[in-house]
Amino acid sequence: MFVINCKNYEEISGDKIIKFVKTAEKISKKYKVKIAISPPQHLIGLVANSSIPIFAQHIDDSKIGSTTGFIIPELLKKSKVKGSLINHSEHRISSKEIERLILKLKELKMISILCVKDVAEVKKYVKLNPDYIAIEPPELIGSGKAVSKEQPELISKAANIINNSKNKTELLCGAGIVSGEDVAKAIELGSKGILVASGIIKAKDWNKIISEFAKALV
Ligand code: G3P
Repeated sequence: MFVINCKNYEEISGDKIIKFVKTAEKISKKYKVKIAISPPQHLIGLVANSSIPIFAQHIDDSKIGSTTGFIIPELLKKSKVKGSLINHSEHRISSKEIERLILKLKELKMISILCVKDVAEVKKYVKLNPDYIAIEPPELIGSGKAVSKEQPELISKAANIINNSKNKTELLCGAGIVSGEDVAKAIELGSKGILVASGIIKAKDWNKIISEFAKALV
């Protein structure tokens, strides 16, 4: 799987998110590659009904009802959102919240993508059996220097830990990935997909760059 985190980049603000998701839908169909998108939280309803999975960038461990401003998984599900990133480097939460949110998404039959910063966190959290663990060294995020080239051992170690666990968690990796070559290298090292942001969102030609990534995953 190939997950595009739109963060809060200006390039996908307002209606631009619709064009972006439509571009990804077409490429996903053409290359038969699973592409998922995490739009900015306030735009999620605009695109949640797409043919490709839409994920939240963050959810809160909070309840339906009088919880002003919180993002509630149950309500996301009602809007056809398929899952969420949890604990992204730019929005870290406590281990208690991580545990509760993975459980909550399981109950709701939604997909969890737990972000971690290093191998120690892969070891710690694989036990919780999230659908995906995405390893991203914070210092490489947005750097244009790919984790798969700068820290290949991080991916192979994480893949080993996950493969040796008894659960069905799959590994994603991200940070600094900007080309099909970076993607191919990540897969070669044992990742099952990638989590990417600036390398795609900030590219001049979305069709070209998403196609390049998709072809590297086929
Ligand atoms: O969530 C993806 C992310 O943090 C990686 O960002 O810009 O390095 O692809 P980027």
